[in-house]
Amino acid sequence: MAAPSPLLQVDNLSVRFDTPDSAVHAVNGVSFALERGQTFGIVGESGSGKSQTMMALMGLLAANGQASGRALFNGQDLLTLPERELNRVRGDRMAMIFQDPMTSLNPYLTVERQMTEVLELHKGLTRRAALALAIQTLEQVRIPDAPRRIRMYPHEFSGGMRQRIMIAMALLCQPDLLIADEPTTALDVTVQAQTLQLLRELQRDFGTAIILITHDLGVVAGLCDQVMVMYGGRVMEQGSADSIFYRPTHPYTVGLLGAVPRLSQEGGRLLAIPGLPPSMARLPAGCPFSERCGLATDRCVTERPPLVPLAADAQVLRACHRDPSEVAQLAEEVVS
Ligand SMILES: Nc1ncnc2c1ncn2[C@@H]1O[C@H](COP(=O)(O)OP(=O)(O)OP(=O)(O)O)[C@@H](O)[C@H]1O
Ligand SMILES: [Mg+2]
Repeated sequence: MAAPSPLLQVDNLSVRFDTPDSAVHAVNGVSFALERGQTFGIVGESGSGKSQTMMALMGLLAANGQASGRALFNGQDLLTLPERELNRVRGDRMAMIFQDPMTSLNPYLTVERQMTEVLELHKGLTRRAALALAIQTLEQVRIPDAPRRIRMYPHEFSGGMRQRIMIAMALLCQPDLLIADEPTTALDVTVQAQTLQLLRELQRDFGTAIILITHDLGVVAGLCDQVMVMYGGRVMEQGSADSIFYRPTHPYTVGLLGAVPRLSQEGGRLLAIPGLPPSMARLPAGCPFSERCGLATDRCVTERPPLVPLAADAQVLRACHRDPSEVAQLAEEVVS
């Protein structure tokens, strides 16, 4: 018997934007599989292509954007699905939450109206049944005094609570997949930790698969099963969260690890990667990270390393000309 297919199977996904100057290749050849109930992390600095990868899956690219490849979700290719069917999948089987809750909450409607509307539309519930389920969902994301507060407007809540209301809205229809794009970046550290804990619990209770996008490798370590590290629109390294976090094989991953406070603050230093995140318009012909990489050679600048399995562990994919042992040595210096 064939193995059950994953919830989401992405093959060779690329995104191109046409601009007056040139074509911007924002995402290039991304492939990954996500099993039901699992969490997949996408990590990278600003502009690395994390959000556009997800926008392509959701059918939300800007008008000048074009996606290619394949993205099978429950067996249907999201990239070729007619708009009408995609709309149904989006509201119902997959949901997305953003860094700024106000991008998905309507400031002019009470939380009650926003939540019940979704349920009436997608689930055909009566107003009364919808209200009961909305209150229950708010309680699940720990909004205190939910029956009263549901009548309030979004701006009457604190930032952390607004974030939870957005999560509750996303979970209303019990989606198979929740895409969370930097859901905690705008929050302070305590609220950030609470929100991540909440996602973890919701996943346990509902079995929702999550794609979590973040700058912060530390966030990924605690929550994700599989991780993809992106830079300049390409995958630098991909594998289990454990391997990425404890046995990084790409210098860029090592750089990100150096920026995780938990690891580096003990030594009294927070190592930043020198230089700036990439501009898509001016990427080198070789490895996109070569300009900022401490291990880069001439070859790295001129010849792009392919994404290939690691010899010692075929579950790990890496795109780097240097030997994994040299990267391991670099990691030792950064983490110790
Ligand atoms: N409509 C567009 N036209 C041209 N280029 C675009 C367009 N939308 C996005 N891009 C480019 O695509 C690239 C990837 O953007 P993306 O939003 O995926 O980055 P990101 O990794 O999510 O960054 P951040 O962490 O800042 O959110 C960027 O260089 C961006 O400028
Ligand atoms: Mg983004």
